[in-house]
Amino acid sequence: MTKSNSLFACERALAWAPSNIALVKYWGKRDHALNLPTHGSLSLALGDKGTWTELSWDFFADQDFVSFNEKQLNLESVEAARLLKFLDRFRPAGIKGAYRVRTCNNIPTAAGLASSASGFAALVKALNKLHGWNLDSKKLSVLARIGSGSACRSLYAGFAIWHEGKRADGEDSYAESLDVAWPGLRWLVFMPSKDKKELSSREAMKQTAQTCPWFNTWVTQSKVWLEEAKEAVLNQNFTKLGQIMEASSLMMHASMLSTQPWNLYWKPQTVDMMHRVRQLRQEGVECYLTMDAGPSVKILYFENDRLHLEKMTQDLDASSLLWVNPWSKPEEKLRSV
Ligand code: PMV
Repeated sequence: MTKSNSLFACERALAWAPSNIALVKYWGKRDHALNLPTHGSLSLALGDKGTWTELSWDFFADQDFVSFNEKQLNLESVEAARLLKFLDRFRPAGIKGAYRVRTCNNIPTAAGLASSASGFAALVKALNKLHGWNLDSKKLSVLARIGSGSACRSLYAGFAIWHEGKRADGEDSYAESLDVAWPGLRWLVFMPSKDKKELSSREAMKQTAQTCPWFNTWVTQSKVWLEEAKEAVLNQNFTKLGQIMEASSLMMHASMLSTQPWNLYWKPQTVDMMHRVRQLRQEGVECYLTMDAGPSVKILYFENDRLHLEKMTQDLDASSLLWVNPWSKPEEKLRSV
């Protein structure tokens, strides 16, 4: 699907998508234009933390309007340009007007918390409603993937698996929900810095694939982990899942340290938190960590152990901590303009 000539199905479409954290990481592409991965990945969503997007077509406008957290974006900014380039694929031909996009995130952007994932997933859902496409989740996931790879997993609450796919057109590279309820699981997100990351995941990923001498080993190992992690989710084997989650994240970061030039997203506070989590585990509290393209540390634990995690982080600034229930549902935040 490229351009749509259909009339608009509604005046204003509102859609929500949660952010997601990969348990088995996506890090490497076989096709950069379509964001086709070298291997599949597995994620758990962040419940009510993510993006609301409202999309409409303004018949009187000459140019698109984009706002982020209620602030109008300059259309030439990197964020807006990326979004508009994506929207160009779907812009109705021969109809006067322009898109109006209001997007609101309730998570810090570009701090390694995958806000582009929830952003593109919400946008695709809104496009589906506005244009009345009636596409199923699999098709929407393929479209979201083109905006940002990890966005294909943000179509779903809970666990999602992104199939690597084999086809050159990417039609078989989509995510689907792993329909498993595991109500006791919780995320604690530690954000030592809310600054924007220095190197985009897009660039960093490219650099790893091009210059990490053992990139193929990473790909082969990730495929093994994906199968094992999927089994661990289905059997609710927390120890196995946690061990794979940590290993996948650490190997991904090790691959970035093995590039030319080397790349490191961690801050001293990231490393400090890694030691705290391992220490807590040695004391008998089962919890595991994972890091993405930023200094944040995400810790997976059980609700019953919350007091132990509170104690472990009691000396830290409360605003650097986000306690997330992956199973909580979002409240509608955007009201009519
Ligand atoms: O989809 P992107 O380009 O934002 O890449 C996301 C990469 C990681 O977050 C580091 C890993 C993952 O699987 O989400």
